[in-house]
Amino acid sequence: MIVSFENVLTSEELATMRRQLFSVKWERGISAGPQARLVKKNLQIPETSEVLRDLRVMVMRALNRTPEVMSAVLPFKIIPPNFNRYTVEDSHYGKHIDSTLRPLPDGSYLRTDVSATLFLSDPDEYEGGELKISDTYGEQSIKLPAGSLITYPSGSVHEVSPVTRGERLGCYMFMQSLVRDTEKRRLLYEMDNSLRRLRAAQGEGHSDLVQLTGTYNNLIRMWSEC
Ligand code: NI
Repeated sequence: MIVSFENVLTSEELATMRRQLFSVKWERGISAGPQARLVKKNLQIPETSEVLRDLRVMVMRALNRTPEVMSAVLPFKIIPPNFNRYTVEDSHYGKHIDSTLRPLPDGSYLRTDVSATLFLSDPDEYEGGELKISDTYGEQSIKLPAGSLITYPSGSVHEVSPVTRGERLGCYMFMQSLVRDTEKRRLLYEMDNSLRRLRAAQGEGHSDLVQLTGTYNNLIRMWSEC
């Protein structure tokens, strides 16, 4: 399931973040796994950067206040977000699948279920740089407005096509979901969307809504692992 979310960042947050990203020192990234590293060519912020901590806090805060993202991903653990910059010189991240296990700062591991990209440049700032994801319906080519987020299954083959003009700033992160199976997550997401619409139309107290909300929660209880 590929889902996009508009305006995850406020315009103030986006402006602050971009200001910091333009002033920070970038390095050629090597965060990918052994296979992905062969096809990876972009710039990243070194782990030692102080700005990185503030940027990460800002992204996490934005995710936490966006219920639609929580509903689509049902996150159990999220890796501290990283940032990348694709320019004409350092611009390509070829076809790959994100590595399955990622170390967390506390020494434990996260199983990547959902990958996410937060777009930090507007589409008219660069040419190329599409995020191309192969899913069950074929290849999707994605380029969203700055401040928008896309989530997709970490197990899908994807790439960032070469940037041929301008530059593309982005933030990416990996999440372990409470519900491992993509199709189960899709059912829960669709159900929660309908519940939200029903709640708006019928009011919280409608007896069938209470029952259905209970069923939704019981499905999470049945399917979640943590
Ligand atoms: Ni990737």
